[in-house]
Amino acid sequence: MVQRSLTVCLRFRAIPHVRGCLATRAARIWPDRQKYAGIRATKLLARKRYPYCQRRLPAIILPPVRKRSIKFTLFLVLALPACVLAQAPSLAIQVDKPTAKVSPTLYGLMTEEINFSYDGGLYAELVRDRTIGQGWQALAHWTMEARGNSVVGISADAQTGPSAALPRSLKVSVTAATEAAPAGVQNDGYWGFPVRPLTVYNGSFYAKTDRDGLPVTVSLVNDRTGAIAASTTVTGLTGQWKHYTYVLKTAQAPVSADNHLVLTIPRPATVWFDLVSLFPPTYHDRPYGNRIDIMEKLAAMHPKFLRLPGGNYLEGDHISERFEWKKTIGPWVDRPTHPSPWHYRSSDGMGLLEFLEWCEDLRIEPVLAVYAGYSMMQEHIEPGPALEPYIQDALDEIEYATADANSKWGAERAKDGHPAPFPLHYVEIGNEDWFDRSGSYDGRYAQYYKAIKQRYPDLQLIATAPIKSVKPDVLDEHFYMAAEKSFSDANHYDTADRNGPKIFVGEWATREGEPTPNLQAALADSAWMTGMERNSDLIIMASYAPLLVNVNPGGMQWETDLIGYDALASYGSPSYWAQVLFATHLGTEVVPSTLANTGPRVYTSTTRDEKRRKLFVKVVNAQSNTLALSIGINGARTVGHDAILTTLSGETPNATNSITNPREVVPVEHHISVAGPKFEHSFAPYSVNVLELSY
Ligand code: AHR
Repeated sequence: MVQRSLTVCLRFRAIPHVRGCLATRAARIWPDRQKYAGIRATKLLARKRYPYCQRRLPAIILPPVRKRSIKFTLFLVLALPACVLAQAPSLAIQVDKPTAKVSPTLYGLMTEEINFSYDGGLYAELVRDRTIGQGWQALAHWTMEARGNSVVGISADAQTGPSAALPRSLKVSVTAATEAAPAGVQNDGYWGFPVRPLTVYNGSFYAKTDRDGLPVTVSLVNDRTGAIAASTTVTGLTGQWKHYTYVLKTAQAPVSADNHLVLTIPRPATVWFDLVSLFPPTYHDRPYGNRIDIMEKLAAMHPKFLRLPGGNYLEGDHISERFEWKKTIGPWVDRPTHPSPWHYRSSDGMGLLEFLEWCEDLRIEPVLAVYAGYSMMQEHIEPGPALEPYIQDALDEIEYATADANSKWGAERAKDGHPAPFPLHYVEIGNEDWFDRSGSYDGRYAQYYKAIKQRYPDLQLIATAPIKSVKPDVLDEHFYMAAEKSFSDANHYDTADRNGPKIFVGEWATREGEPTPNLQAALADSAWMTGMERNSDLIIMASYAPLLVNVNPGGMQWETDLIGYDALASYGSPSYWAQVLFATHLGTEVVPSTLANTGPRVYTSTTRDEKRRKLFVKVVNAQSNTLALSIGINGARTVGHDAILTTLSGETPNATNSITNPREVVPVEHHISVAGPKFEHSFAPYSVNVLELSY
């Protein structure tokens, strides 16, 4: 009988009138997100005992059944409210029976030199190709500057450079020039130079000349008007390579990215330049540090770790192009730079120490990935003696990061300006080694494992592919998914083996939308995150990838990246905001939360913080209709009436943010009133929600 009445009830919900009623109600409940909380509170009281359109429903449905028997009609009238109640979407939360501890390191960061993430991105250097012509084009971002009747030629000179690591330079040969008509060279930056009023920029370059005492004038110049935003002159160049510093200060210049950097001389001479550099103010004022706006966005994600230095960037296409950390430390002039697998050369300004300082600035821990003898063009080092030097490199790298300044590599770090060691608990051996068709990873991992554990027994060692010869502490699994997959596989880890290694979801993303993900991706990401949260006894860390993209033409090598930017500004995608929501509302224990009768694409996870007596209920409604949910908080003595609901939603799944419209989809916070341990709430269509309750 119950089954029968449920079926009938379902049929009536399909009657257009009834659907109209439900839709009208949804529209009324959801007229304006800002006013949502107040309207909700009133409606909730009214609807507490009458979910859906219970009072109006019989009147609407009676005409179609008029010819049926009185008996049957009576049955419907009496049975309908009960069946609707029985089918109401519900969420049952059992507060007092936690099922798992939430990993304290669950959410973190992962990126690499891709999409101009560091050069032209986070690393605040403004001069592009500062090490001169290492790309396929001799002088890609350097062009001549000749005023009046001046005459200049520029070229890449492979015969002279400031160091063994940088053996070439930019040769500027001026054969005619005056004070009024100087000549030299200009750099176009990473799609422009950001000029802001009353701002101090710190610059430097290496130079030598054939005319002792030659001055060089450095200016920030507007591309369209030629207006000079800031200028200064460095004097006394000599015939020897030397390092010069300079400062540019803007006055009331308009904010603009349409600028270039110009270096000129006022008389005929030849000058050689290298490592021409200019930095705007940086995060925490760290010299040669990171962009403030992007660091602030990362800090807002409340990450717990940074997986560094990559990804494919760790491995390189070829063994000779791997991330050789020893070539990324010390003065820039001793860093030879190297090709990244993402089709441009890395300046290595973001070297190992800068990565670690980036962690320090965000107060997070590094997850250090060490090169493990495999590069992407199927090049590998056989386990055994040939691998030993690579393992030694990894041991040295760990020493550089963690040992005190009396050790060999700790002393090197102190010499580089950071005497204090960095914390380190996780070391990852390689990246995606299941790509290695030679099958050598098992042996390579085992060899690294033995050597590292012998010296650093407390370190947790992460494998990048399943291993048979030893049991890895942690296994790194990667998931790049279409939304459909993130939704359908959101319970991926619910029944996973708890006796194997812990899991690090070191790269994952729903790849829909470019350059940055849209709301559909954010909904699917959130569904996937509920699964990771529920299983965070097993999943100790997770990091979305890639993190960053320069949205200028040619800036992106990988579609769907969390944060987009140009020279002036940055924005978070809907998926970014989903990450912020999840990471900032996280308890210390998982408690059971069970959904019923919701239909597809509705997801949940609940965590509690016993000390703070807070409950964080996440509800993802990826459906196009409002989700009216009866929520039951069981096992709590009381539930506070004042709750905070933060919602990320949009009109359509395609809604998105962009550099020109950065705040189309952003979280909105409301205070809502909760009647008690049992209450109802309607969640907006296409929404990610976090309900913060006190218990
Ligand atoms: O995140 C982009 C790339 O995807 C990473 O470099 C690699 O590890 C993965 O295949």
